[in-house]
Amino acid sequence: MRNETLHGVDDGLFMNEQGVGAWSTDKYALIRLYAHLFTSGMKGKWPNLVYVDLYSGAGQSRIDGSNEILLGSPLIALSIDIPFDQYIFCDSNRAALDALKSRVASRFPTAQATYLLGDCNDTWQQIVDLIPSRCLCLCFVDPYDLSIHFDTLRRLSEGRNMDFLCLLASRTDAGRNRANYTTEESTKVDLFLGSRDWRAEKDSPLVLKQNFGDFLCSKFAERMETLGYLPSPNHEMRTIKDANRALYRLALFARHETAKRFWNQVLKYSIPQRSLFD
Ligand SMILES: C[S@@+](CC[C@H](N)C(=O)[O-])C[C@H]1O[C@@H](n2cnc3c(N)ncnc32)[C@H](O)[C@@H]1O
Repeated sequence: MRNETLHGVDDGLFMNEQGVGAWSTDKYALIRLYAHLFTSGMKGKWPNLVYVDLYSGAGQSRIDGSNEILLGSPLIALSIDIPFDQYIFCDSNRAALDALKSRVASRFPTAQATYLLGDCNDTWQQIVDLIPSRCLCLCFVDPYDLSIHFDTLRRLSEGRNMDFLCLLASRTDAGRNRANYTTEESTKVDLFLGSRDWRAEKDSPLVLKQNFGDFLCSKFAERMETLGYLPSPNHEMRTIKDANRALYRLALFARHETAKRFWNQVLKYSIPQRSLFD
């Protein structure tokens, strides 16, 4: 992989700012390395490689309280050595999606990219309609909170070869909202897990002792196993931290060992070499 910068430029367009901090460099370095391993390892083995970004953002992010600008996940996926054949970007914020469209048009004018405005839990059918029948997909799921619905991932992956790289908002959302999310009225976790079964365990001594976010990460991975995904225990997820404070986890869900091998390389090499990506 070329040692390209993860930094963007101030082009005057809308940028992601919410929840962007120094730790975002880690997230972006991991995404870039995984996307690079994915396309370089799989090119030629499939008629099409498709990248889906359910929470695409604007394509560039400004680190909170600074002038430091980073490439966002869509521009990272577009700028790897071996690009994907097709890109599908979804975001519920019109300003972010318009800015992304402008950036892609000027920097990657030949990319085959489609933009869907709306909640990805509603636009899944439009996404499915855009995916060619014989392809391998990498879907990046990067919400601020636990807003992804398990059923969305189920519908997207049904009968399709799709790996998911998911940001699980374990501490930034789940860990802080245990009291709200465990009420009978809250549907947040039910939708995130596509089931109410977790409620039977939520008050067990073992779970009460645990951070609620960590509990939900393991439940989410169990749910993905019901769709044929390989086990992804918490220790195989990468915790993103602000200094020593855990924020969220990045987890890979794949149905084939090859993808897991790529992910193991990411876990192994990206941790001590963060500065190589800057
Ligand atoms: C954390 S940012 C994603 C940034 C981007 N993936 C990156 O790494 O550069 C989350 C984005 O999701 C969008 N968003 C929030 N809820 C959404 C939803 N339900 N469906 C689609 N997009 C959503 C927000 O507008 C925001 O741009």
